[in-house]
Amino acid sequence: MLWRTAGVCYCRGCRAAWLPIRTPVRYNGAHRGFFFDATSPRETGKEGITVVPTGGALGAEIRNVDLRTIDDVDFAVVFGAWHDHLLLLFREQELSDEELIDFSRRFGELDWAPIQESGRRFVEGHPEIYVVSNVVENGMPIGSLGAGEATWHTDMSYLEVPPKASMLYALEAPRFGGDTYFNNMYGAYESLPEELKRRIEGLSLKHDGTYNSGGYLRQGVTPVDDPMISPGVYHPLVCTHPETRRRALYLGRRRNAYIGGLSLAESESLLEKLWSYATRAGLAWGHKWRAGDLVLWDNRCTMHRRDSFDAASRRIMHRTQIRDEVAPRA
Ligand SMILES: [Fe+2]
Repeated sequence: MLWRTAGVCYCRGCRAAWLPIRTPVRYNGAHRGFFFDATSPRETGKEGITVVPTGGALGAEIRNVDLRTIDDVDFAVVFGAWHDHLLLLFREQELSDEELIDFSRRFGELDWAPIQESGRRFVEGHPEIYVVSNVVENGMPIGSLGAGEATWHTDMSYLEVPPKASMLYALEAPRFGGDTYFNNMYGAYESLPEELKRRIEGLSLKHDGTYNSGGYLRQGVTPVDDPMISPGVYHPLVCTHPETRRRALYLGRRRNAYIGGLSLAESESLLEKLWSYATRAGLAWGHKWRAGDLVLWDNRCTMHRRDSFDAASRRIMHRTQIRDEVAPRA
């Protein structure tokens, strides 16, 4: 049980106003101090917010919270748990699109959703929401990725400043298949042999902007399958998380990836080695969706992939993406 215990940072201009006192040491380089407030379930007479780790390589479930009405004290617990566990699961939520956007905004400004494969931009009236779905209405898919497998990736890493976090909220989920797996990229970096860590120090990786994780061509892009010339943005291969200060491997996605300054053969060989470490089962945790589940993850230290599912079943997810303030840095 984690009590409803939190502190608020009072330094001028601090963006992260509420922080949990359990982990202030992680933030004390950026914050001047904390003002503490504490209550326990015994004092309030109701069951308090609870953080239950998955027991896997990452992730925790947050229980006893309604995201439509979450207060600042409980939000502080959520914010701290997000940094500690990289990914958070909230079950049995009942969110409208407006409420999903409101909760997402507590972590920062939102990016607009990328254009879907069909050319549709977003949910009418909500440019922040990206629809992931196989459902077809009036002959037009309502979302992206269909019912196929989505390969390991980090959301929108082909941008100069990719979103720091994503939230995925399940409106409809199939009984079988469509599970999402997440992995711990701090762990991936830490698991590398020292020699390999030295080899990749200072290298940059091009993150492809041609294809999405389902293998679909992005809107307005010419198909290219040569990693040397495909469109994309370079980011450091090893990045330091701006808030936790931990180092993580930053791979984005495998297709059309290219390590700058190397021959294509050298780049491919090194990437194969790095991906073999990053995608080991011991670093991953899988989630079977139910309607009402919301998962929040940190794109700076995780990747994710999705299983395929029966195309005749329905899966509808709404995603928001939270803008980062800084580009990925070594
Ligand atoms: Fe994704």
